[in-house]
Amino acid sequence: MSAATDRTREAKTILLENDRGTYTVPTEGLYPFQWNWDSLFAALGWAQFDLPRAWAEIHSLFDAQWPSGMVPHIVFWSDSSSYFPGPEIWRTGRNAPASSGISQPPVAATIVKLLSEMDHLPSLSLYRSIERWHQWWHRARDPEGRGIIAISHPWESGRDNLPDWDQPLSRIASSSNGHHQRRDLDHVNPDMRPLQADYDRYLALVDQAATVGWDDTVIAQQSPFWVADPGLSAVLLRAERDLIWLGTALGEPTDAAQIRVARLESGFEQFWNDKVGAYCSLDLRNGQHAEAGTSASFLAPYAGIVNHTEQLLNELEAWSQTCEFLVPSFDPRHPHFEPLRYWRGPVWCMVNYMISTGLNEIGATQWAERLRTDTAKLITKSGMPESFNPITGGPVGGQDFTWTAALWLAWASHQPCPM
Ligand code: DGY
Repeated sequence: MSAATDRTREAKTILLENDRGTYTVPTEGLYPFQWNWDSLFAALGWAQFDLPRAWAEIHSLFDAQWPSGMVPHIVFWSDSSSYFPGPEIWRTGRNAPASSGISQPPVAATIVKLLSEMDHLPSLSLYRSIERWHQWWHRARDPEGRGIIAISHPWESGRDNLPDWDQPLSRIASSSNGHHQRRDLDHVNPDMRPLQADYDRYLALVDQAATVGWDDTVIAQQSPFWVADPGLSAVLLRAERDLIWLGTALGEPTDAAQIRVARLESGFEQFWNDKVGAYCSLDLRNGQHAEAGTSASFLAPYAGIVNHTEQLLNELEAWSQTCEFLVPSFDPRHPHFEPLRYWRGPVWCMVNYMISTGLNEIGATQWAERLRTDTAKLITKSGMPESFNPITGGPVGGQDFTWTAALWLAWASHQPCPM
C-alpha cells in the first residue's frame, strides 16, 4: 500500500467521522458546528466519492440563509459547550437555525460549478439563493459601489488574526461582554491561536453589531472595523464569473452579475500597494493600505486579474527563498510573521488550491504545480491538520481537519495533469 493510498483512505475517514448527516464539522471539539467556507470545501471532498452527500452539504448551508441574502459563517445546528461564542453571544434573533451574524468568503458558486461539471446543474432555487448572497455582499459590504468588498469583522475574511487587522482593531475598546471563557484553548496550543487582546476585540465587535440588531446599513456606517479585503473580493469576483456560467447553463438572465463583475474588476486595482508591490487590504475608515502582502495577494489570477502578474510571481519567488513550503499566509520577511500562529504565517491548503488554480489559468503552470506538490508533501509528512508551519512543514492547529482532507482528495493527491 503506497503512502498516497493510505492518505486517501485517511482523508475519507476524516470526512466520514466529521459528518453530522447533512453538514460536516471542520473538526471535532474546536469547531463543532457548520462553518460556511469549510462546508463548501467539504462538499468538494465529498464530491470525489459521494456526489449526493456533496449536494446535501451545500443545501444545508443555504437552509440557514437570512432573508437579506446573507449566508452566516457559523450555523449552530446543535448545542455544544466546546465552542465559544455561541448563539447567546451573537443574539441574532434567529433560531431556526441559530447562526452567527456575519458571513465568510463566498466560494459557493465556484464549488457548485465544479459539482455541475461532475454531476448535474444545481436546482434553480439553489442558483437563486447564491445570486441573492452575491447581491447581499455588494449591497451590505460595498454600499458605495466602489468595487471592493469590506469585512465588518476579522472572522468575515476567514483569515481571523492576519496582521492586516491589527491596526484597524486597535481602535476598538476591548469587550463589553465582561469576562468570557474561551474554549478554543481547550483544544489547541495557545501559540497557534489568536491572542487574548484579539479575542476581546472580536467579542466587542460582535456585541456592537448585536446591539444594533445586525442592521447592515448601520454596520456599514458605524462599525469601527471596516476593511476592504482582497481575499474576499477575489473569491467573490471568481464566484460571480462562475455564477454567470451557471446562470447561462440554466437559461437565467445574468445581466446583474455581469454588472457586478465589471465593478469588481475595475475596483480591484484599489488594493494595489505600490510601496509593497502587492495587493493589500485597505482600511476604509482611514484610507490606508496594510503594509505587507498576504497569501490573498496571490489570489488575483484566481479572480481573473492579471495587471501585475510579473511582480506577483517575483514576490512568490522571494517568499520561496524564506520558506520551504508555499504559500505562507503572511509575508515571511515581515517582523509580524509567526509560522505557528493561525493566520500570521501557516500554510492553508484551500488557499493554496485557489492560488494554484489561478496560476494555472494564467499559464504559470510551474508555480501552480509547485503549490500542489508542496501541499501534497505537507500532507504526506504531517497528516491532515488545520494548517502547516511553512518553515518546518509541521502540523498546526486542530487535527483531522475536514478541508485539508477534502483538498487532498480533490486536488493535492492528483498526478500532474497534462496541460
Ligand atoms: C474561530 O472561532 O476561531 C473561528 O475561526 C471563528 O469563525
